[in-house]
Amino acid sequence: MPRNIKIKKPRRQRRRTIRFPKDFLWGAATSAYQVEGGITKNDWAVAERLPPAGAACDHYHRYEQDFLLAKKLNHNAHRLSLEWSRIEPAEDQWDEEALEHYYHVLEFLKNRGVTTFVTLHHFTNPLWFARAGGWASPKAAERFGSYVSKVAQTLGQFIDFWVTINEPNVYAAVSFMEGRWPPFEKSAFKALRVFHNMLKAHNQAYEIIHAYYPQARVGLAQNITFNEPASKKSFFARLAVKFLDWLDETYTYRHTRNDFIGLNYYFHNRLKFIFDPNHLFMKIVNSSQGRLSERGWEIYPQGLYEVLRDLAKFQKPIYITENGIADAQDKLRGKFIIDHLRAIHRAIQKGVLVRGYLHWSLLDNYEWEDGYKWKFGLVAVDFKTQRRHIRGSAELYARICKTNALPPLNLPLTKGEKKSR
Ligand code: GCO
Repeated sequence: MPRNIKIKKPRRQRRRTIRFPKDFLWGAATSAYQVEGGITKNDWAVAERLPPAGAACDHYHRYEQDFLLAKKLNHNAHRLSLEWSRIEPAEDQWDEEALEHYYHVLEFLKNRGVTTFVTLHHFTNPLWFARAGGWASPKAAERFGSYVSKVAQTLGQFIDFWVTINEPNVYAAVSFMEGRWPPFEKSAFKALRVFHNMLKAHNQAYEIIHAYYPQARVGLAQNITFNEPASKKSFFARLAVKFLDWLDETYTYRHTRNDFIGLNYYFHNRLKFIFDPNHLFMKIVNSSQGRLSERGWEIYPQGLYEVLRDLAKFQKPIYITENGIADAQDKLRGKFIIDHLRAIHRAIQKGVLVRGYLHWSLLDNYEWEDGYKWKFGLVAVDFKTQRRHIRGSAELYARICKTNALPPLNLPLTKGEKKSR
């Protein structure tokens, strides 16, 4: 054999395990109206044009069983919301039973070493509050503040992370501009006022909570999509993207006080400019480009990376407070989770302070105006029998939670995991 020929050894396949930082929080999220059942005194429960939530997952009575499932799935954190209309069914009247219930709920989690993220407002409003003008009223922040004080006094000891308001941007747009949620209004002007009032209420809540608990960690859960112009050539489409990014990020975080950023990330938007002030001059034109979930939302993990890189400028710890997919057959969820966690990990490597991931959702649940159509749960729920069934992707995620790492690709998968990839 001629001496100058080198025989190349086949390169060993790289099997790098992707590890997350120490003390990373892993879990799932829910919201009261979507899972509890039996809620009658809020603006959703009385709106005839909306599908009834009814018994939902009956989580109000089955929370112990559900939390034990989360524990079994190695979650070390959990996000839930308190139903304001249960706690304050009429202005300044406090329902002791409801407070006691949430006391037990939170105590149950804390006794099992679970870090709690508690949302104070997740889309639904007590009827009395809605009837007194809701979030459009100049008194909204004050009314919300009195509920926040009550929660701080009675339940504050169990709350690790306070999420004052869930997605003020989505709530304001869908309820006041698109007219799809109560109070079904269609005014961009009002939507902006509501958004502003919610940020103001957040700031007041921030002060109130810190007065009781100076060390509290208080933030918002903001829905931030990765926005791009439908056509890069269109100056106005580019402007629409800039405006929306400015509103959701710069305006929001420059006008509010936060100890952390809660990020709800689902998808990618392509925006077109339209001459319609009532839609803030923009239209979402998501097409069939890319891979879509059952709900028609484009699966786009790269967008999560981009949004995280952008949020790094606020120099606050970031927790993913929601990220998930409608996937009844559990065909895409496992890969969805892994791909989004890879995006998060890449952002962490670039120095972004991501400290936790809460998957949406622990359970299949009431998906707002679509009723029970979409299945977002790690755990499937049979709404007739209230039986729970752990999906394969939940097992895959459980392994990630346990090892604080993404499984190397060569690892043998369990039966459930295989089905979900
Ligand atoms: C949100 C929503 C959740 C939805 C989820 C899936 O905070 O965005 O509140 O309640 O169920 O986004 O649509």
